[in-house]
Amino acid sequence: MKLAVLSRAPHAYSTQRLRAAAIQRGHDVKVLNTLKFAIDLTGDEPDLHFRGKQLSDYDAILPRIGSSITYFGTAVVRQFEQMDVYTPNTANGISSARDKLRANQILSRHNIAMPPTAFVRNRADVRPAIERVGGAPVVIKLLEGTQGIGVILAPQVKVAEAIIETLHSTKQNVLIQKFISESRGRDIRALVVGDRVVAAMRRSAAGDEFRSNVHRGGSVEGVQLDPAYERAAVRSAQIMGLRVAGVDMLEGDDGPLVMEVNSSPGLQGIEQATNLDVAGAIIDYIAGQVGFPEIDVRQRLTVSTGYGVAELLVHNAAELVGRSLGESGLWERDITVLTLHRGTMVIPNPRKHVVLEADDRLLCFGKLEEMRSMIPERRRRRAKVRRLPKEPLS
Ligand SMILES: Nc1ncnc2c1ncn2[C@@H]1O[C@H](COP(=O)(O)OP(=O)(O)O)[C@@H](O)[C@H]1O
Ligand SMILES: [Mg+2]
Repeated sequence: MKLAVLSRAPHAYSTQRLRAAAIQRGHDVKVLNTLKFAIDLTGDEPDLHFRGKQLSDYDAILPRIGSSITYFGTAVVRQFEQMDVYTPNTANGISSARDKLRANQILSRHNIAMPPTAFVRNRADVRPAIERVGGAPVVIKLLEGTQGIGVILAPQVKVAEAIIETLHSTKQNVLIQKFISESRGRDIRALVVGDRVVAAMRRSAAGDEFRSNVHRGGSVEGVQLDPAYERAAVRSAQIMGLRVAGVDMLEGDDGPLVMEVNSSPGLQGIEQATNLDVAGAIIDYIAGQVGFPEIDVRQRLTVSTGYGVAELLVHNAAELVGRSLGESGLWERDITVLTLHRGTMVIPNPRKHVVLEADDRLLCFGKLEEMRSMIPERRRRRAKVRRLPKEPLS
């Protein structure tokens, strides 16, 4: 395959390793500086120029977009997507993951356990928010910080309030998050490639530091993950739309708490801690996916008037429960089931004989008018005090 690694750091460890792994496998690979692209929307088809010349054909890209160029970088990735060039990480996925609040919001509806988090702007809402996540000591985070910079542990509510107000006054948005003390300055980084964790490490903070980032002096060791951790990591990456991701999890009393999903995970720490060829696994995965570019399903499927995509809920009361898909009458109503979600299990392309259960969710393509009656009511909010562990422990 012909692969472009989009990176502004051709000499960085990760870029070098990815390049070497690609060459070793006989691929044609170029490292292209993301900022040297020009997006061209003047012709009949979306196009790209690189360093002033029309870009040659590529089979795949691997974006390594730094946080300082998110807007332009994701625009370039999106342009490759429009040109049907395969990318393991979509522009959408990269921008959602980059913003800690946005990532938390997206993950929160998918039964991914996370540290209790709040986001407020009004001065009067600050103290109640701190109390809601569990009081002091409390963690305060800048939305787009990396490498541990912009993550603060405030020992008392008053101090936390003062820090948050100061940051607000300089127009910085911050997350308020429960301090997960039982993780004791340690966290887990799982490197997800495709549908599996290819390497994992535990990072431990230095001295009395609570942040375990390698850039903050944290040390690393390879670990074999429990299935609950693997599942949380893979599902988080999938939900974010990332096929290559570094998922950071705290070790909570009740299992993994997902903190963030990194779309350009560094390879040095994890390869050295585990002695695994992570770069090779990434290249192999991309090579296997070439020819299957990610497409925006909504964008493509909703162009026929009156048709669209919807998630239908099999109601307890409905006559669908206990019937097989073949007997469900959906097909006759011009509705095609793409996937069936049952709890945390997903059945892609479910066959006719699959029997429906109450609370199954069906992702369907079909006539909107027919599907309307089956769209679930808006989810009722449960009055809750504490977030319970969501993933079954094993
Ligand atoms: N809620 C928390 N409780 C305990 N430790 C935390 C919490 N949030 C972050 N940390 C520690 O701080 C580190 C950095 O936080 P993180 O959200 O990953 O920011 P960054 O993007 O800067 O790496 C984590 O790796 C972890 O060790
Ligand atoms: Mg982190």
